[in-house]
Amino acid sequence: MSNLLNNLTRRKSATALLADYEKDGNIHGTNLVRTLRLKDLISFGIAAIIGAGIFSTIGNASAAGGPGVSLLFIFTAVACGFSALCYAQFASTIPVSGSAYTYAYASFGELVAWIIGWDLLMEYAIGNIAVAISWSDYFTAVMHGVGLGLPEYLTMDYLSASRGFETASALLAQGNLLATLPANMQEAYLAWQQAPSIAGIRLVADVPALGITVLITYLVYIGIKESKRTANLLVLLKLLVILLVITVGAFYVNTDNWTPFAPNGISGIMKGVSAVFFAYIGFDAISTTAEECENPQRDLPKAMIFALIICTVLYVILALILTGMVPYQELAVGDPLAFVFSRVNLDAIAGIVAVSAIVAMASVLLVFQYGQPRIWMSMSRDGLLPQIFSRIHPKHRTPSFATIVTGFVVAVPALFMNLTEVTDLTSIGTLFAFVLVCGGILLMEQQQGIPATNKGFRVPYINGKFVLPMLLMAGLVLLYVYNQEGLTQFFRMDGGWETFQHKLPLIGFILVVIVLTLLTFTRNLSLIPVLGLLTNLYLMTELGITNWSRFMAWLALGLLIYFFYGYRNSKLHKPAAKVAA
Ligand code: ALA
Repeated sequence: MSNLLNNLTRRKSATALLADYEKDGNIHGTNLVRTLRLKDLISFGIAAIIGAGIFSTIGNASAAGGPGVSLLFIFTAVACGFSALCYAQFASTIPVSGSAYTYAYASFGELVAWIIGWDLLMEYAIGNIAVAISWSDYFTAVMHGVGLGLPEYLTMDYLSASRGFETASALLAQGNLLATLPANMQEAYLAWQQAPSIAGIRLVADVPALGITVLITYLVYIGIKESKRTANLLVLLKLLVILLVITVGAFYVNTDNWTPFAPNGISGIMKGVSAVFFAYIGFDAISTTAEECENPQRDLPKAMIFALIICTVLYVILALILTGMVPYQELAVGDPLAFVFSRVNLDAIAGIVAVSAIVAMASVLLVFQYGQPRIWMSMSRDGLLPQIFSRIHPKHRTPSFATIVTGFVVAVPALFMNLTEVTDLTSIGTLFAFVLVCGGILLMEQQQGIPATNKGFRVPYINGKFVLPMLLMAGLVLLYVYNQEGLTQFFRMDGGWETFQHKLPLIGFILVVIVLTLLTFTRNLSLIPVLGLLTNLYLMTELGITNWSRFMAWLALGLLIYFFYGYRNSKLHKPAAKVAA
């Protein structure tokens, strides 16, 4: 039993991680080429961050929360900022590929490292499925606009088509006309009706989502130089278009639309958590390039923080512009940035925005298709995945097999899966990774002090002993003043299990707050990682019990794989006999 526990918590020290990397690289010639500088890294970060979130999912978030959603962007940015500082310290301490996975290996040990690696698969691969689906939506709309539309059944997922068909049929049966139904419902109806079927199964699939994934995977496969150049170009275009939206949109803002600022209260704003958080995912991906940076210790932390600041400023302004240009209720569309311009009769701008969304989302795909194989590569180097995952292409110097597998893992589900479900899963998985990274910093500093190899960045230490309880008190007062309805609902005892289960995530959160506050008080924990852990965990609680259940099921599957493969094949594995000896 104690051997099992020892194995599950076996850790790789920061020094061992670096030494392994250098040794492996020198012997096998597997080290990647170090070409990335600060500006490339910032560009890489922006390429990952600005995408489907701001071009698409912000629409529904604004429709639920009104202009107040801009506050959620700020709150989420603060939570991400805390995590970014923790990521930065880890990336600076252990500048090798693998991101949070590698950091967890150094702080929590192997089991948690595996869990986080498995969880990052959810962030990168499932996140990319979401981006590919959104990309396809914009792409097909633009193609339609220029008269090259594909049949509907080749441009959407099975579930959306069948659900949309059912709802539309019910409305038609009540005497409504097809042309009067919302556009997305019309599309689903036609897709289902026109789709060919084999053995009674309708052939409905999102072919453009598959196509773009294959193309991007190819770019990543042929190497960092091509990918870097492409990413830099894409980012420039993306920033220009966002600035265009802001500057032109500003002239069409009607400030009356900002009142009331939070029409559906805090609960309305919080409905946007998954969408808003999704828009920030990506700054952490910068850390996966550690082996390809010229100076990772100096540049990685800076790049993460700069990218986050730039995006936050743009997002908050964009949220205010959108909700200022049209009444918030109208923003429940898949292409809100283009929509607001059509709404004020600026069709040319709407067209430019739509085309640029296609470009923006392609760049997000690029970064995540790039990052995922590098995490697998790290896990394979540690023996938790088969060796073939760390094979480097002799000519392109990229992790070739892992890149191809990533292509399959994203492209095939992108044909069939539903956007909202994949966005929610991505957000909950990524938030969990952030929670663990913040926890990892706390644990590492408690256990090891500041690592000897750390010549670079460190999260500024502020003693949380008294500040944390004071901040929590302030939070409670704000909650009492602004969200009495939410508080009352939480304490209501009627409704049985059906109602109670939805409170479970929040109850868990409250317990963590209590324990962590006590620990912070008794052990003088560092405030920033503690706040990072709590804010990200809080955002997780807002994602609902269904997403929690799916997330748990995903983790359980990962654990099965670990115990059947990784546990035995880990490079740190020591059979019981050896340990006893
Ligand atoms: N932040 C990325 C996006 O919005 C994942 O597409």
